[in-house]
Amino acid sequence: MRAPTAEAMRAFGARLAAHLRAGDLIVLSGPLGAGKTTLVQGIAEGLKVRGPITSPTFVIARVHPSLTQGPPLVHADAYRLGGDLEVDDLDLDASLEESVTVVEWGEGLVEGLADDRLEIHIDREAGDEARVLTVRAVGPRWADTPVDRLEG
Ligand SMILES: Nc1ncnc2c1ncn2[C@@H]1O[C@H](COP(=O)(O)OP(=O)(O)O)[C@@H](O)[C@H]1O
Ligand SMILES: [Mg+2]
Repeated sequence: MRAPTAEAMRAFGARLAAHLRAGDLIVLSGPLGAGKTTLVQGIAEGLKVRGPITSPTFVIARVHPSLTQGPPLVHADAYRLGGDLEVDDLDLDASLEESVTVVEWGEGLVEGLADDRLEIHIDREAGDEARVLTVRAVGPRWADTPVDRLEG
């Protein structure tokens, strides 16, 4: 899948959000500046949760409550983990069941939280603004979700 612009990336997130529900875990990977946070902004828009979605500098996990009756979005950025703070300290499992949880830089860290998860890898396309997304659905939860047909 291809997101030619940041706007397209957010639109993809919003379309994906229509398929998300409480208990879902999404793990985002890809280099700095790939567009992980931009994708979360689109998911937040689609879920209709309170913003803004930013790249947290000091706060590593943030809860964005729903503006309607939907699940909250828990947005975590594991980039700075590994020192004194470990993924367990984020206490994501406490909120997982009632939230949609999206973790940037979570690969290799948060898989143990849920047997079912969506793994999205984002890469830059050489010499272009476009990004390439690779979506991998793990577990039966996603069996009926057309994750590979969310292209705009
Ligand atoms: N196609 C695209 N998809 C996502 N972001 C893009 C795209 N083209 C340009 N950008 C820009 O690249 C930057 C991505 O930053 P960010 O989402 O914070 O990345 P990350 O969270 O992966 O470090 C933003 O400034 C965004 O506007
Ligand atoms: Mg980010």
